[in-house]
Amino acid sequence: AAIKKYQFDVQVNNVSRLCHAKPIVTVNGRFPGPTIYVREGDRVLVNVTNHAQYNMSIHWHGLKQYRNGWADGPAYITQCPIKTGNSYTYDFNVTGQRGTLWWHAHIFWLRATVYGAIVIMPKPGTPFPFPQPNREEVILLGEWWHTDVEEVEKQGQKMGLPPNMSDAHTINGKPGPLFPCSEKPLNPTYIINSAPFYLDTFAMEVESGKTYLLRIINAALNDELFFAIAGHNFTVVEVDAVYTKPFTTEAILIAPGQTTNVLVQANQKPGRYFMAARPFNDAPIPVDNKTATGILQYKGIPNSLLPTLAQLPASNDSEFALNYNKKLRSLNSPKFPADVPQKVDRKLFYTIGFGKDSCPTCVNGTRLLATLNNISFVMPQTALLQAHYFNLKGVFKADFPDKPPKPFNYTGAPLTASLGTSRATRLSKIAFNSTIELVLQDTNLLTVESHPFHLHGYNFFVVGTGIGNFDPVKDPANYNLVDPIERNTAAVPTGGWTAIRFRADNPGIHPSFFNFSDLHTHTHTKKKKKLTVYFDCIGVWFMHCHLELHTGWGLKTAFAVEDGPGPDQSVLPPPTDLPPC
Ligand code: C2O
Repeated sequence: AAIKKYQFDVQVNNVSRLCHAKPIVTVNGRFPGPTIYVREGDRVLVNVTNHAQYNMSIHWHGLKQYRNGWADGPAYITQCPIKTGNSYTYDFNVTGQRGTLWWHAHIFWLRATVYGAIVIMPKPGTPFPFPQPNREEVILLGEWWHTDVEEVEKQGQKMGLPPNMSDAHTINGKPGPLFPCSEKPLNPTYIINSAPFYLDTFAMEVESGKTYLLRIINAALNDELFFAIAGHNFTVVEVDAVYTKPFTTEAILIAPGQTTNVLVQANQKPGRYFMAARPFNDAPIPVDNKTATGILQYKGIPNSLLPTLAQLPASNDSEFALNYNKKLRSLNSPKFPADVPQKVDRKLFYTIGFGKDSCPTCVNGTRLLATLNNISFVMPQTALLQAHYFNLKGVFKADFPDKPPKPFNYTGAPLTASLGTSRATRLSKIAFNSTIELVLQDTNLLTVESHPFHLHGYNFFVVGTGIGNFDPVKDPANYNLVDPIERNTAAVPTGGWTAIRFRADNPGIHPSFFNFSDLHTHTHTKKKKKLTVYFDCIGVWFMHCHLELHTGWGLKTAFAVEDGPGPDQSVLPPPTDLPPC
């Protein structure tokens, strides 16, 4: 294992897209930001220095951060933001995980421009459990606004309506030639010859006969996306840094926060092929149909050749979504077992809905709220993890209800009546070493919509999903408890439900893979005794919808996982440079 050090200078730079330049927040002047390359077992030190006029923090999305929530990053959950002019070193171990994850700013909408990939290579001498690719490429899908994203976000808070949609979707920060400066007509000559083509288009060169591993990341703020390459099939081999049973597909579906690794063979007639990303949306709300494009270009093929267009499923193709998600299964091999909790200690049932709140400074005097069990989460002023660790009173209440106040027909006719929406900082306390089942139930409170839920600090197994109301008797009978997909972000379907299971001791880590010497502690009292228990992800772990619009409206909560009885079963002491609140 090595120590990998990175310096992240958070700064404002002018970046031009769609023929408009604007100042954006970047890391080291790069958009998207730099990729972190590490190996399983490495210790990573990222010193973040904030030169921008925004308070900020960075989250390492999907890294489990054993006992070490201090490095997790969500502002006001595990740390207070890094203020202008200050630095903080995120110090963490990459333990028992390998694959593609990503990092992003975790405060308001700053992640629109502050994001990048994390590539974790397996330990030396450990091959992938699929054919070795000749090359690999990171594909970051994102969104671009002409205006300042802070302004767009504020608009979302003030209006009773969603704010402006983005002006473009992007592939590695670039919208592609099918998003020319709006005045220009879209024609082949334009596509081939215009300067914006080269400025605004991501191109990837391939050689005939070679195999490529694409590490695809959905960094978009508000859209689940389809992604495909004209004429080329994908073999899905991993999602959220967990190996899957390989399957072939013409397109993938990927929600914000998720990652998907696919193999692509350059086995078509040498030429130029469009890659394309477009939203999937089967909810009765305004449809965003913008397609980001990039080019897959065979070596030696001239730029004058017009690329072949990519075919994507229709924007509202729920059936594709359902079938695609059904095909996702854990690899569940002897080396990479799916340690699915078979028994459950505690069952949670959270409804997802919208509500309204009076707001004197808002348009029409009301604002939109998003809720779990009718509670819209209020961000505290002090980080929850500090409050939990130092036992500070009055920051949060650990009384989040295990189920909604009373059952109703969740997905029946639209409900407009208020169900007593409240705003509070409430979280759920979880006992050490317990197994949890959480059913997330979408509702028709104002509207139905798909929600990609992300849990910090853990992977979970998606044991079941369905359309309509969850049936606590019939549905569990159909759970997949053998090889369900394991991941850190899962979509709850529009007007449906998703059941996840996780163990508050990180079952994703098989003890034989856990090397105690990998675990870095901030104290000098590291114990050398043999590890006989799993490490628990103790501390405070955020859970939220990864649609930034919904998170902003309060669609989030957190779990406070209690310390275990053993000496290595408690949260590590906070680092000395932890930003003060
Ligand atoms: Cu990728 Cu809490 O987020």
